[in-house]
Amino acid sequence: MQSHLSGTLTPLSSPFQRNAICQSESSLRKTMDRLTENANLMIVSDLDHTMVDHHDPENLSLLRFNALWEANYRSNSLLVFSTGRSPTLYKELRKEKPMLTPDITIMSVGTEITYGNSMEPDNGWVEYLNQKWDRNIVFEETSKIPELTLQSETEQRPHKASFYVQKDKADDITRSLSTCLKERGLDVKIIYSGGMDLDILPQGAGKGQALAYLHDKFKAEGKLPKNTLVCGDSGNDADLFTVPDVHGVMVSNAQEELLQWHAIYAKNNPKIIHAKERCAAGIIQAIGHFNLGPSISPRDVTDLSDTKLDNFDPAYEVVKFYLFYERWRLAEVENSELYLANLKAVCSKSGIFVHPSGIEKQLHDCVDSLRTSYGDKKGQPFRVWVDQVLPVQVGSDSWLVKFKKWEQSGGERLCCLTTALLSSKGVTVADGLTWVLVHQTWLKEAGPSSDAEWLF
Ligand code: GLC
Ligand code: MG
Repeated sequence: MQSHLSGTLTPLSSPFQRNAICQSESSLRKTMDRLTENANLMIVSDLDHTMVDHHDPENLSLLRFNALWEANYRSNSLLVFSTGRSPTLYKELRKEKPMLTPDITIMSVGTEITYGNSMEPDNGWVEYLNQKWDRNIVFEETSKIPELTLQSETEQRPHKASFYVQKDKADDITRSLSTCLKERGLDVKIIYSGGMDLDILPQGAGKGQALAYLHDKFKAEGKLPKNTLVCGDSGNDADLFTVPDVHGVMVSNAQEELLQWHAIYAKNNPKIIHAKERCAAGIIQAIGHFNLGPSISPRDVTDLSDTKLDNFDPAYEVVKFYLFYERWRLAEVENSELYLANLKAVCSKSGIFVHPSGIEKQLHDCVDSLRTSYGDKKGQPFRVWVDQVLPVQVGSDSWLVKFKKWEQSGGERLCCLTTALLSSKGVTVADGLTWVLVHQTWLKEAGPSSDAEWLF
C-alpha cells in the first residue's frame, strides 16, 4: 500500500527557485491582473468523478456548482482544474459536459500547467520537470513488465508515462519499478489511481507540486489566495492534500486508495473532510463546512425573486435571469403573467436586444414573445448555463457584463458571447438592476449549423 503512494508522503514545502521559473509570466500576470486583490478563494479541483459526475447524465451537481461560482465567486476568485487527462482528453470532456472555463488548467497529473482561455503553457514548469527524467528510459524498463498495459498514445506525455495494471499487482510493480528506475539514474514518482491507472512522473511533478508552484508564484506577486480548497476522489489527488495550509474535500464517492491514504497520513487533519455528497455537490458542501463563502447555489433557490441582496449585483442578476429562462421553458415555474410583468419591469423601455443573427429587437418585445415558449422544452433534456460572467463597472450607476451563455437542447449545444449593459439609475437594490442592452454573437466553435432557434 505505502509504496505506490510513495511520492505523496512528505508534506510539500516550497522547493522552487523563482528565478528559475520566470517564463510565461505574462499569461500568469493576465490571470492575476483580473483580480484587484488576493483571490477570496482558489478552488483546485480534479475533474473525473470530482467536479464531473459520470453517473449523473443530467449533470445537476455540476450545474449547481456552476451557478454558485458564477453568481458569487467568478470575479473575485480563481478556478483551477487539475486533471490526470492529457490536453486531448481534457478538451473532449469539455465538449461532453457543461463545464465552466477555469482560470488555470493543470493537466496530465500535474505535469502541464496552462493559463487562461487560450491555455498558454507554463514553460518554466516544463523545464523544472526535466530534472532526472528521461521518458525513453522509463519506456525501456516498463516494456520488460508484461503486467503493464500501455494507455492510449494521447495519454503518453513528455513528463508522464501511463499504464493500466490490476489492483493486486500494483504494489509489487511499483516497488520494483522504483528500484530499477533509481538504478538507472532517474528520480520518479509512481502513482496508482482509480484502481487501474499507473502513472510514472518526474519526482517533482504531481498535482500537489504543481499547486505549490502556483502558490509560490502568487505569493511572489503578493496575491496568495486567502483560502484554497482542493477537491479530489482518487490516488493522484492525494498529492493535493499535502500542500500546506489548504482545505481539502474528498468527495463521498472517493476511491479506496485515496481514503486509505487519508486514514494513514491525514486522519487528524481537521482541514480535510470526506464529504457526504457526491462530486460537485461535495465541493459545495465543503465550501459551507469550512465557511469559505456563500454555499447556496442559485439553482437550489426555488423563488429567485425572494432573494435579498445587500448591494447591486450584476453577476447574480445574469445567473438569476438565465435560471428563470431555463425554468420557464421547462415549465418548472408557474405560467404566470406576474413573472413576465416583473421581467418587463427590469428591462428599460427603450432597451435593445441584438440577436446573434444580427436582428435588433426591443427588450420588451422579447419578454412578450416568451409567452409562447412557456414549457416548450418540458420533459426534454434542456439546460442553460453561463460561464465567465465578468461585470465591469463603467459608470457610477452602470455595469457592462460579459459572459458566455450556453444552451443545450438534446444533443445540440450552442453558445453566444454576450454583453449586457445593466443600470442602477433610479432603482433600489430591492428592485434589481435594469437591463438596457443585450448583445450576442455566436461563439466561433459553438454556433448553429443551420437556422437555430435561439431566444436570448
Ligand atoms: C486520467 C488520464 C490517465 C491517468 C489517470 C490517472 O484518466 O487520462 O492517463 O492514468 O487520469 O492519473
Ligand atoms: Mg478523479
